[in-house]
Amino acid sequence: MAELVVTDRGGRQHRLPAKPGFTVMEIIRDGGLNELLALCGGSCSCATCHVFVDAAFIDRVGAPGQFESELLDSSNHRRETSRLGCQIEMTAALDGLRVVIAPEED
Ligand code: FES
Repeated sequence: MAELVVTDRGGRQHRLPAKPGFTVMEIIRDGGLNELLALCGGSCSCATCHVFVDAAFIDRVGAPGQFESELLDSSNHRRETSRLGCQIEMTAALDGLRVVIAPEED
């Protein structure tokens, strides 16, 4: 099974099983980490699933769509590699994907 490697806000690394077809947000939530509020349940309207994608994977993950990008603009922590976890679907090609959970908004 593919794997998602997540660094939490405390700097701890978690290797989570990543079923293809599930989103990064769902994998993190179902993996027992409670740092992503994911308030909208994955409908791309809350931005509480913000993650930083490791630079080595950003080409494979791709850029956010326009609506996602507008939501990310509402974050004080946006970076070039920012994505919303609910908008990244795991595929076999993303096996080993590394993400860091973005800081909480102030
Ligand atoms: S869970 Fe709300 S935007 Fe991702």
